[in-house]
Amino acid sequence: MEIPGRCPGLSNFAPLGLGVTSSRASVCMSLDRKTFLRRFGAGSFGLVAAAALPGEETKNPPPALSRSNGPLPRFDARDPESFWSAVRAQFSFEPGLTYFNTGGLGPAPQSVLAAAADLTAQLQKKSEHGHERYRGARATVAKFLGAAPEEIAFVRNATEGNAIVAAGLKLGAGDEVIFETHAHPGGSFPWLHQEKLRGVKVKLFEPDPLDPADNIARIAALLSPRTRVVQVSHVTAPTGIVMPVAAIARVCRERGIWFHIDGAQTAGMIPVSVRELGGDSYATSGHKWWGGPLETGVLWIRRERLDDVTPPLVGAHSGEIDSHALPAKFSLAATAERYEYGTRNVAAVVGLAEAAQFQERIGRDRIAARGRELAQRVRAGLAAIKGIEILTPAAAELSASMITFRAAALSYDKLFERLFKGHGLRCRPVSEQDLNAIRVSTHLFNSPAECDALVAAVGKILRA
Ligand SMILES: Cc1ncc(COP(=O)(O)O)c(C=O)c1O
Repeated sequence: MEIPGRCPGLSNFAPLGLGVTSSRASVCMSLDRKTFLRRFGAGSFGLVAAAALPGEETKNPPPALSRSNGPLPRFDARDPESFWSAVRAQFSFEPGLTYFNTGGLGPAPQSVLAAAADLTAQLQKKSEHGHERYRGARATVAKFLGAAPEEIAFVRNATEGNAIVAAGLKLGAGDEVIFETHAHPGGSFPWLHQEKLRGVKVKLFEPDPLDPADNIARIAALLSPRTRVVQVSHVTAPTGIVMPVAAIARVCRERGIWFHIDGAQTAGMIPVSVRELGGDSYATSGHKWWGGPLETGVLWIRRERLDDVTPPLVGAHSGEIDSHALPAKFSLAATAERYEYGTRNVAAVVGLAEAAQFQERIGRDRIAARGRELAQRVRAGLAAIKGIEILTPAAAELSASMITFRAAALSYDKLFERLFKGHGLRCRPVSEQDLNAIRVSTHLFNSPAECDALVAAVGKILRA
């Protein structure tokens, strides 16, 4: 592995456990599904009545899909806090907990939990998998990401999307990939694995928090005739630097280099249109800023480039065979569905689609602006405390809804514990790259009062 410049080595960061559902491979599902759809008429399956047999929908209407704690009021710029309080009422937090760790895991609003729970209940009554519901969810989710439905695959998390790209690109020993030293294990481990397995050479650059142009220069300095892939986090996990992905995409495109964006921290935090960003692929988690159910994620691959990423795992839904009996010829799905396989938790994906609609109802620019405004409030408050250093860039184009800071007088783990145990403030300890810091994520359910409480608690802890 090659690391130019300042790079103190990877710290002993313990990644959160990667939950993987076991999926039972069902035999020849694509044929079964076709037969099923032909027999029962797929077109008549409405969004609410998953896997209902004809007639059953009216006899036994399913519960409403979008339960929520009342409709949201119209946004009134003269009284924004009433609107945001109503948004907050869509979430249920444990009393005494103030949650500032959406970058780690985001809570889902009531309507999302209801959509997933209702569908689970409906499907369980019939013991059906409800896979046909993917279709509507795919259209909604693709729109949310600025993609075409055939370009997205439902995966379990951003890590899985990143790993499919790393494992699936046709690379050989000595081919080079460049990414940042601040990459999360979900972005770096898939490549470190390929380094071991296939001899892919990993080259790292230190992200520059001050100058977007310098990040491009740092990547450019590592390019060689063997560079095949550049990957960056759209927003970096440790310190929340917004990377200039559109400009990096241009550099890569000019040189025929694959550009993969790890968007775990962006979908749902800021509006994202993957096609406009200009990369070749993008992976994100649904269970962070997006507010989707646990174990939801999306992989996007530009339509024209699907054949460049061989699916590392396939099964039912990844393609089809030309006969009802083996031996038979297998062909991959023409779409990104080729990266999906086996029995899945459809209710979670339907919940993810509801999470997209929930954000649309609020307004995605409004959500991004709110998160940024709250982060700026935290920044300003912390900056006034002696001995605090803010690591997240100040420039508007380099930061969004996360602020990372450290205290000269107190280690990150002690500060984290005192904030959490003493004040009920759940932030995220940042051990990566020995940054010794605390990360604060500000999202649509947080309030200015909570931000002020955090600042006050930090001040109090440091004065004690
Ligand atoms: C940039 C980045 N990539 C990947 C991940 C991994 O996300 P997940 O565990 O949902 O796969 C994270 C998680 O925080 C992240 O910040």
